[in-house]
Amino acid sequence: MFVHCPFSVFHGNLASFARFCREGSIMTDVAPLRDFIRAMTRLANEDASETRWLTEGATLLRGLVADEAWLPDAFAEPGPRYRQYLLHCDPLERFCVVSFVWGPGQRTPIHNHTVWGLVGMLRGEEVSTEMVRGAPMRTGQVDHLKQGEVVAVSADTYDIHVVENALRDRASISIHVYGGNIGAVIRSVFDAATGAEKRFVSGYDNTAVPNLWDRSRDTLAA
Ligand SMILES: [Fe+2]
Repeated sequence: MFVHCPFSVFHGNLASFARFCREGSIMTDVAPLRDFIRAMTRLANEDASETRWLTEGATLLRGLVADEAWLPDAFAEPGPRYRQYLLHCDPLERFCVVSFVWGPGQRTPIHNHTVWGLVGMLRGEEVSTEMVRGAPMRTGQVDHLKQGEVVAVSADTYDIHVVENALRDRASISIHVYGGNIGAVIRSVFDAATGAEKRFVSGYDNTAVPNLWDRSRDTLAA
């Protein structure tokens, strides 16, 4: 459970503070993320084709990023380099959901994915620039994502790109969905000048994921 707990209002009374947090008086409502994951799991259970993931999944992701309030603060924190927080991984690693947080001026290396992916802009703006193999590599499609927009990547048609925060004065956050456990997938980063490819496994920046399943208040209210 991740809560916004303004400690200062309790004037240092730790017991009150702890009770406030436990009772979740001001708690991020992660229900939109839970509903999204359920819908994506149904797609996975139907053994959806990549076309279905990139169309029906994109529609679902558009719905998720239409409201930006559900993301707990712990997964929206920028760092000295861009952050990659795992929000959920399907138990069979058929898909995962990741929060990417870009501080001002931050960007990825040129990288590939090897699996399908969806990118939905939650807060701020980012630029995704496709890179085409060669020496030097050349730029292809450029997507400037604004809040609420969704774009796809695919191993077959658009797999190599570089992504950067389009805003110079604040963080931007995008929600990504991939057709696998992306943090554990063997991928590549590329040198722009020579096109040289280097093995890359990204991992994640967090060790705990959001608790989607404390529905006790729903149960009590029913
Ligand atoms: Fe990417």
